[in-house]
This record gives sequence, structure tokens and C-alpha cells, in this order.
Amino acid sequence: MAADSSPLYYWDYLQLDRILDAQKPESAKRGVPAHDEMLFIVVHQAFELWFKQILHELDAVLKIMGGDTVAEKDVGRAVHALRRINEIQRLLIDQLGVLETMTPLDFLDFRDDLVPASGFQSVQFRIIENRLGLRPRHRLKIKGAAYTDVLSTEHGDLVHGTEEETSLLDHVGQWLERTPFVSFGDFDFWRAYRGAVDEMLARDRRIVETHPNIDAEERAVQLARFDEMTTTFTALFDRGRWEELQQQGRRRLSHRAILAALLINLYRDEPIFHMPFRFLTGLIDIDEGFTAWRQRHALMAHRMIGGRIGTGGTSGHGYLEAAARKHRIFSDLFDLPTYFIPRSALPELPSDVRNQLGFRYAQNP
Ligand code: HEM
Repeated sequence: MAADSSPLYYWDYLQLDRILDAQKPESAKRGVPAHDEMLFIVVHQAFELWFKQILHELDAVLKIMGGDTVAEKDVGRAVHALRRINEIQRLLIDQLGVLETMTPLDFLDFRDDLVPASGFQSVQFRIIENRLGLRPRHRLKIKGAAYTDVLSTEHGDLVHGTEEETSLLDHVGQWLERTPFVSFGDFDFWRAYRGAVDEMLARDRRIVETHPNIDAEERAVQLARFDEMTTTFTALFDRGRWEELQQQGRRRLSHRAILAALLINLYRDEPIFHMPFRFLTGLIDIDEGFTAWRQRHALMAHRMIGGRIGTGGTSGHGYLEAAARKHRIFSDLFDLPTYFIPRSALPELPSDVRNQLGFRYAQNP
């Protein structure tokens, strides 16, 4: 029942007057209606509606993670919101297939009418990127221009405002830094872990050195790769080196945060780490979802416009492919498996530490 007590009417509730009256093809205004422009508009509008829903979910996650303390059950709610975003992303990728039923020649019937408008001006997409943690210094430079130069003043201000907010990446970093158990009192976990890693690396190195099927040239390549991996491990155990990498923009999470993320992954079978593990996995899923969407969109742009520049003025598919590579947010989490060792090689935790990590249920008297 509506607030004024007249029965709620479907058409009014969804404001279909406004939504269904919002498709105004430019080609028709020119007097040469292009059949496929309707599809082009509807697909873009559907995208923007889904971006709105993604922002709605993302804001809920930001609110949860932005608290001084984050309760376990709230992490569960954040996991659920991330999962919903991920399902929407799948849908968005699939929608591009519908748009690709429009051929490049069909697109040419109205493409010039669109210049200089472009998805490049999608305000909601920029806000999503900024809220996730993409900062201007991490963005591709386009002929020295800021990504907001193509927006109206009002929209430019709105998007710039979101650059100043604490992003999801920031919140996740702070939350990880607060994770207890990164040090275990008397038990020096990291010394034990490093010992296990060194053993694993030494074993793997011996295999490369003595493997009968590897010739001298290949052996040299493999050994060089090993040395590189060892250097990465060293940074993990050397806070100063890690901070250098951070300053160079090669790492985004702090040293303490990455150690906590590593611990959560390695000991995810411990009940207390289940939910944090699922949350970190959810972040990887949505980062992958946006990267997959960007790559798919770049491919679609390539087949639609070939080597032409975009209506927004970038190099076209070349720009989009480079953005898909560069505009990742949670790369630190993607790189984490470099530091994994098999469960069987993990240091055995002392029993008092194990007890702290597990949930214990007191028997009712
Ligand atoms: C025929 C279909 C499409 C083509 C050929 C195309 C092409 C392009 C190109 C070339 C760019 C780079 C900017 C420029 O120079 O214009 C771009 C950016 C963008 N497009 Fe599309 N696009 C298409 C459909 C879509 C759809 C359906 C969406 C959904 C909202 C979309 C969203 C975006 C976004 C968000 C950007 C900015 C990406 C970034 O800067 O990382 N595009 N598009």
C-alpha cells in the first residue's frame, strides 16, 4: 500500500514513465534513424543501473570495514555484498555479447553522432574505481590530461571528491594491520616460517640444478628466476625493503598488512580465519571481475572500431587494454601465493596459540 493509502501501482512504483521515455537516439534527430542505436542506448543504461547497484553494495562494504573494530558477523555481511557485486560483474560481461549483435557497419550508421561523448565519461564507473582505491597517480596518463577533464564541472567535482575519501583498499589495509596473531608472544612464527621457506627454496633449487632433462641454457634461466623469487621473499621478511617497494608504488599494502593477509591465507583452516579468508577472496574476485570486464570491453571495442581512436579521444582498444593491466587495485593479494608453502611444510603452531585461533564451546552446566 502506498503512503497516501491508494494501492501501489507497478508502473508508478518503478517510475517507468521516466525510464522508458529516456531513449532518444541521436540519429533520429538527424532524420536518419539507425536501428541499432536503441540497443546501444539500452545496453549503456542497463550498465549504469547496475553500476548504481554496485555502488550501493560497495558503500555497505565501506561502512562495515570503516568501523574502528569490525565484528566477525559484519565481515560475513561484507562477504555477501562482495559476492553480489561479483555476480553483477558476470552479468555485465555477458551483456557485451548482446551489444556485439550490432555489427561494426551498423555502428558506423550513428557512431559519428556520439562524438565526443564516450563511456570514458561514466561518472559512476569513476566513482567505483576511486572508492575501490584507484588513485590519480596509479592511472594511465592520457596526453597529460586528467581523467576528469572530459567531465562537466559538476561531475568533475563529484569525482574528485571521491579521490579524497578513504578507499576500500585503505580500509582493508587498516583492518589487516589490526589483525591480532601477527606476533605470537614467545613463539616467533616468522622465524619458523622463514626457515620453512628457505628449506623449500633450497630443495627446489637442487631439483633445477640436478634435473637430467634440463640443458645448461634452460638451467641458467630457471636459476635466475629462482634468485628473483628469493629476492621477493627477502622483501617480505625485511620491512625496510618492503617500504621501499611501497614508495616506488610497486606495493600498496603495508608490511604488517601483507603479513596478516599471508597468515590468514596460510591458516585459513583455523575457524577464526575462515571469514577473513573469504573476505580477502571476495576482494580478489571483484578485482578479477573488473579486469575481466575491461579486457572483454577492449576486445569488443577492437572488433567494433578496429584501429580507430575512441569517440572520447583515446587511442581506442590500445588504451583500454593498457588500462585493464594498470588499473588493478588488489594486486598485492594476487601476488600473495608467491609466498605460500604447502600445508605440510607450515610450522606447527604451539597448542596455546592453536587454542586461541579455534572456537571453543563451553559445555552447559
Ligand atoms: C560499441 C560499443 C563500445 C565501443 C566501441 C566502446 C569503445 C570505447 C573506447 C574506445 C573507450 C576509450 C575511451 C574513448 O576514447 O572513447 C571506451 C571507454 C569506456 N567505455 Fe566503452 N565502448 C563500447 C561500449 C561500452 C558499454 C556498453 C559500456 C558500459 C557502460 C562502456 C563503458 C566504458 C567505460 C566505463 C569506459 C572507460 C574505461 C576506462 O577509462 O578504463 N562502453 N569505450
